[in-house]
Amino acid sequence: TAPAAVVVAIDGPSGTGKSSTSKAVAAQLGLSYLDTGAQYRAMTWWMITNGIDVTDAAAVATAAAKPVLVSGTDPAHPTITVDGADASGPIRTQEVTSRVSAVSAVPEVRTLVTELQRSIAAAAERGIVVEGRDIGTTVLPDADLKIFLTASPEARAARRSGELTGKDAAGLAATREALIKRDAADSGRKTSPLAKAGDAVEVDTTELTLQQVIECVVTLVEEKRAAA
Ligand code: DC
Repeated sequence: TAPAAVVVAIDGPSGTGKSSTSKAVAAQLGLSYLDTGAQYRAMTWWMITNGIDVTDAAAVATAAAKPVLVSGTDPAHPTITVDGADASGPIRTQEVTSRVSAVSAVPEVRTLVTELQRSIAAAAERGIVVEGRDIGTTVLPDADLKIFLTASPEARAARRSGELTGKDAAGLAATREALIKRDAADSGRKTSPLAKAGDAVEVDTTELTLQQVIECVVTLVEEKRAAA
């Protein structure tokens, strides 16, 4: 018989290997995959493109229901569209990255995006890996397994810098600054901040390779399934 659907929540700050780990775990276990950060980025991209001042929370709240976000949940080929247009490229720009914390702090945005996330998770027949900041605490408090990934600020900045700008020192310092600022905003906001759920398993990835983190999470999922 097919194993029951398993719902895995993976939270943590940026640069912990969250996306790479989540996609690989989902692919190995035949589960769907949802990048919730991409949804907040897509919302932010839409706001910028439509001339909304993202520092104006009331304007963002009013506009939040307008864009139609659709996430493709294949871990081998995750997609996101906004009003039918592919947003995968534009959501990774520096402009979106620097504004996403402001948009994602607006409660009306979070309510809408959270509902979308819950409906996607409920529709995943074989189960799903959902990555974000508040998945274990707020979006899916009944997840079968909750993981909280951490790493030292130095390790996180080095990983992000390697992804974004190459390994020049100026890039690294700037990345570290931007990353610490964004984490502080994401952890300090009132509505559903970045936080470790009480029943989450914390994995410090500072000294681990990506492969080791993936194996660790796959083992935890398999243990959960065996115990179910
Ligand atoms: O994981 P990421 O860097 O793509 O996330 C982009 C931003 O979205 C992040 O700075 C905070 C926000 N976010 C959030 O508030 N809640 C989530 N579940 C996921 C991301």
